[in-house]
Amino acid sequence: MAAILKTQSGLYAQFTVCLIGLLLLPLPSHSSDPDPLQDFCIGDTKSELSVNGFPCKPAANVTSDDFFYDGLSKEGNTSNPFGSIVTQANVWAFPGLNTLGISMNRVDIAPGGLNPPHSHPRAAETGVVINGKLLVGFITTGNVFYSKILNPGQMFLIPKGLVHFQKNVGEEKALLFTAFNSHFPGSVVLPMNLFASKPSVPDDVLTKTFQVEKTVIDEIKSKFAA
Ligand code: GLV
Ligand code: MN
Repeated sequence: MAAILKTQSGLYAQFTVCLIGLLLLPLPSHSSDPDPLQDFCIGDTKSELSVNGFPCKPAANVTSDDFFYDGLSKEGNTSNPFGSIVTQANVWAFPGLNTLGISMNRVDIAPGGLNPPHSHPRAAETGVVINGKLLVGFITTGNVFYSKILNPGQMFLIPKGLVHFQKNVGEEKALLFTAFNSHFPGSVVLPMNLFASKPSVPDDVLTKTFQVEKTVIDEIKSKFAA
């Protein structure tokens, strides 16, 4: 009798596991922006309507110009403390990208310059080096650091949401183009996020976080004061 009861409870457990598996199977999973529901939807970025994305410009007003963008053709000005500049071609700059789940950046980095550690909460990133020699690295959620020095034509990938950077380790100006699986990947630039937010993060949170005196926090904040 005991053996029969044991077999029955084993079967019951297996059945429950299978049932949970079957119930989970049809759940949709999105690793990037949702798929578009029409050929295009040129974003009306001035609309007062707030939706997840932008409302579409009326089709009758769409022209060829809505599908082309030359904002990445010009070299950015790297005269800043990081010696780098990111020019974004996301949905705000190029509304034709609205709902398509893609966007790009141009990154110019002076010799010795750094595109500082940052992350994109809504996208994975891939990039290709056009000019220069770059150290590209990212850190996993388990604090493992992966990096490589790249030359023109070489590519890299940054998994979604992970902190990463590019440093120009060559003698020449570096240029790279990056691409994202989101029309608006967002960018959390760590030093700005922590030390230049408005209102600012309380000093005692930062001293405790970094285990340093307030003078150190004051000095760092002063570097990023707007
Ligand atoms: C580079 O990391 C970029 O976000 O364009
Ligand atoms: Mn990036």
